[in-house]
Amino acid sequence: MGIILCLLKICLSDYMVKIREVIHRLDPYIPGKSIKEIAAEYSLKKEDIIKLGSNENPLGPSPLAVEAIKNEVNLISQYPETGLKDLQEEIAEYSDVSSDEVIIGGDGADEIIDLLGKTFLDPDCEFIVPIPSYMYYEFNLRNHGARPVYARWDVEANQLDVASVMESISEKTRLIFLCTPNNPTGGLIDKNDIETVLNSTDALVVVDEAYFEFANINNVDLLSDYENLFILRTFSKVMGLAGLRIGYGLSNPKIIDYMHRVKPPFSLTNLSHTAALATLKDREYLEKSAQISIESREFLWTELSKIDQIRVFESKANYLLVDIRNTNLNSSEMTEKLLKKGIIVRDCISFKGLDEYWIRISVGTIEQDKKFIKVFKGIIEGNE
Ligand SMILES: Cc1ncc(COP(=O)(O)O)c(C=O)c1O
Repeated sequence: MGIILCLLKICLSDYMVKIREVIHRLDPYIPGKSIKEIAAEYSLKKEDIIKLGSNENPLGPSPLAVEAIKNEVNLISQYPETGLKDLQEEIAEYSDVSSDEVIIGGDGADEIIDLLGKTFLDPDCEFIVPIPSYMYYEFNLRNHGARPVYARWDVEANQLDVASVMESISEKTRLIFLCTPNNPTGGLIDKNDIETVLNSTDALVVVDEAYFEFANINNVDLLSDYENLFILRTFSKVMGLAGLRIGYGLSNPKIIDYMHRVKPPFSLTNLSHTAALATLKDREYLEKSAQISIESREFLWTELSKIDQIRVFESKANYLLVDIRNTNLNSSEMTEKLLKKGIIVRDCISFKGLDEYWIRISVGTIEQDKKFIKVFKGIIEGNE
């Protein structure tokens, strides 16, 4: 009888359980696949796969972070800290702000985006995203019932079309996202353009600096002049901790305080907390980490620029955007051929504002770059 009732409930669930209207309209988020998933799908050995799809750190984590986690692994039976004072102070020092200007997220910068949504968005208000840019803003914030308004990133010039942002501002605008270096194009936003936007709105301007360490430029100096500025950052890139999901935001203490009111108290795990502290103290690793990716980016860009059938864009981040329309393959065909050879790159078809002829390649070690280039050239020449 119990089983019959259960089956009946499943069959009728559409009618019995009310789903929020906005959930029906959500497009799925398409993340990069893991090495484990690709190995299983293509019958490859994990160690033969090169992952250049998610802008991770080819150096791996800081050895000090690994050591610290090993020493504190028994902490996992206890709830984590909620205050995170020590980590707030370390981040403040690293970022040159004070600790009450820092908020930390336990599902990476993605959690901070969610907190921005919870703190600033009412249903029916708007957020502005220049496209193409990081798709998670829209994926998450639609969920809060808000409406994306698209401004334009000029891909050919690889710069923000700042006029398009200004034209998109309305009395309903609550958040404006400016990603610099921009994902997936790699271009930077001029500080003057950021100030132009900050000066023309009361909405919160979110400057996403997930990749700022690869560009050697940041916008922290603007925090003292603008109350409506929020800077978004992550431990997933130069800090090599993507799997531990740590992000942070910088803004004035009032904004940070409002956001703390809606933050899940235990979202940063003990081990993430430990690893983040150890990584921030490992300045030698941080320097090396940025330097290796910058050198690798320049190498990869130089080599890819020699291939006639593609166009590769200059980038200040740890990835390169490539236009492959003259290879006679679209992005899904190209990424599939690369996957069969054990190389993961990002098919950019899910980025609004790009058509079906773009891929994004994360920089690896020089050795990984060389293997990628060999296979990529083989595919373009029709030999693979
Ligand atoms: C521009 C940008 N912002 C934010 C994030 C989110 O980073 P996290 O791994 O900390 O959630 C990413 C991740 O790739 C990104 O590319």
